[in-house]
Amino acid sequence: MTQLYRARLAEGGLTPDPAQEAVLPAFERVAADLAHAAAPRGLGRLIRRAPEPVRGLYLWGDVGRGKSMLMDLFVQSVAATARRRVHFHAFMQEIHAGLDAARKRGVADAIAPVAAAVADEVRLLAFDEMQITDIADAMIVGRLFEKLFAAGVAVVTTSNRPPDALYKDGLNRQLFLPFIALLKDRMAVVELSGATDYRQTRLAGERVYFHPAGAEARAAIAAIWADLAGDGAAPLTLRVQGRDVVLPAFRDGVARATFWDLCGQPLGPADYLAIATAVRVLVVEDIPRLSAENFNQARRFVTLVDALYEGRVRLIASAADEPERLYIEGEGSFEFARTASRLREMQGAGWGT
Ligand SMILES: Nc1ncnc2c1ncn2[C@@H]1O[C@H](COP(=O)(O)OP(=O)(O)OP(=O)(O)O)[C@@H](O)[C@H]1O
Ligand SMILES: [Mg+2]
Repeated sequence: MTQLYRARLAEGGLTPDPAQEAVLPAFERVAADLAHAAAPRGLGRLIRRAPEPVRGLYLWGDVGRGKSMLMDLFVQSVAATARRRVHFHAFMQEIHAGLDAARKRGVADAIAPVAAAVADEVRLLAFDEMQITDIADAMIVGRLFEKLFAAGVAVVTTSNRPPDALYKDGLNRQLFLPFIALLKDRMAVVELSGATDYRQTRLAGERVYFHPAGAEARAAIAAIWADLAGDGAAPLTLRVQGRDVVLPAFRDGVARATFWDLCGQPLGPADYLAIATAVRVLVVEDIPRLSAENFNQARRFVTLVDALYEGRVRLIASAADEPERLYIEGEGSFEFARTASRLREMQGAGWGT
């Protein structure tokens, strides 16, 4: 991993960062332990038992410091290990689906087979963005991870909070505390305390609002997207009040969708809030001219922008026209002035910090 990191520095893809350098040994230690645990050792190989547990790593810190980037390098570097890198939220949704299916089959302790199925596939789970906001997640993670750890699965994760602040102020939080203790027991907790938000640096001075939404805008946005999200974006499904809200492309906190994906469907404030919580940068393409004709879409767009504004999300957009000229007639056009003004403010260089 250190080699990969140095190579990226040498290529100029990364700026030297002492805080990132400082956490490399913590990753190297996990890699070494994984390699060591995998090595065949005497009779142990003949007796079927859970592999030796490897202490994982919980890397936390402020946004844009390079946690996901480092974790990607780490996952790349341990190619010999059966591993999976997955967004924490997406993983938990699979777990819930598995639990539902097991319960339908009449399994009493549904967590056991679901955890066993995960442990059968991987030795290392690499989560991006561990955060727990949902009580359904909070109430099962303790037993789930207990079983995963017992089956010898190692866990590496990034998070914006230290373990003690997970599910802060959540409902029934006392039932969640054993999970925090478990994380601290099974994972080294390390802070990435760099001074630079590289996502901001990368976007500083960049144009982020393009109009008209033609070929030029598409190309410019594609270039920004390639820089921020690179390869390997995948859809991210957010579960909101029992509904699925799908972001068609997501990677490392950056999501990309069209206006129609987000505002052409009956989504409401809770959905937009969930999106604003899940992403740091949102790319919205093809915002059309709005009017009384497409009043519902316009209303949703206003709600979306409010949610992004409150969440200080960076917005990169292509639109038919300037913000002030997107909605000039019809019901709600007066209120749209605030949306336009927010759209302007969100284009500012300091936005999002
Ligand atoms: N040392 C660096 N030099 C230049 N760019 C960097 C450096 N470290 C990270 N980046 C880039 O900065 C952006 C943000 O990094 P990354 O997504 O890893 O941050 P993060 O800590 O995971 O943020 P978040 O908490 O919001 O998920 C990415 O595009 C990443 O490639
Ligand atoms: Mg990240």
